[in-house]
Amino acid sequence: MPDTANRSPHRLGVLISGRGSNLQSIIDSIAARRLDASLEVVISNRADAAGLQRARAAAVETLFLDPRDYPDRGVYDATIAGALKSRGVTLVCLAGFMRLVGPPLLDAFPNRILNIHPSLLPSFPGLDAQRQALVHGVRVSGATVHLVTSALDGGPIVLQSPVPVLDDDTVDTLSARILIEEHRLYPEAIQIVLDGGWSVDGRRFVRRR
Ligand code: GRF
Repeated sequence: MPDTANRSPHRLGVLISGRGSNLQSIIDSIAARRLDASLEVVISNRADAAGLQRARAAAVETLFLDPRDYPDRGVYDATIAGALKSRGVTLVCLAGFMRLVGPPLLDAFPNRILNIHPSLLPSFPGLDAQRQALVHGVRVSGATVHLVTSALDGGPIVLQSPVPVLDDDTVDTLSARILIEEHRLYPEAIQIVLDGGWSVDGRRFVRRR
C-alpha cells in the first residue's frame, strides 16, 4: 500500500509521446527524494510510447488518449485537462510531448505547465533542435526548461544549461550530451517551480530571495 499519509502536496502529471527518458529522470528523482512531489498520472497521445512502460514499471497510472477519438484539438486538450484535474494534479510536465498545447489546457493550468527543450532558447525552437544547432554552426547549445504559453517553446525560462558543440559532433552525439543535462535540469527546475516564491514579470521568471 502506498503511504498516502506522507504524500507530497505537489502532485505532478507528465505528458509524453515517446521514449520517456525525461519522465524516467522525474520518477528517479522522486524515488531518491531529490524531488518533493508525487507522480499521479502519465498521459500519452501515442499507444506505443515507450515511456508508458517506464511509468507502469514505477506503478504510476497511465492513460493513452488517442487524438483521433476526439473531434478537434480543443476537445482533446480539454479531456487532458479534465484527466489531470480529476487526479488533483498541481503541475503539468511536458516531457517529449509532441503536440502544441491549446487554450483549454493552458487556461486550466496557468503558469503551471513546464516543458523541456533541447536547445538554449530562444535559439532553435520547434522540431530537431539539435540538428538546427549543428546546421547553424553554434559552438554552444544546451537545454532549457520553460513555462508553457501559447508561443511555441516561447514561455518564461526557468533554467538553462549550456552544452558545448564539438567539431566532430553528429546529431546523435550532440543529442546524447544534451540529454544528460536535460535529465539533471528538469527535476531541478520542477522543484524550483514547486517551491514557489517566484513570479512572472513580462518574459522573465523571477525568483525572490
Ligand atoms: C527531449 O530531448 C526533450 O528535450 C524534447 O523531446 C525529447 C524527449 O525525450 N522535448 P524523452 O522522451 O524524454 O526521452
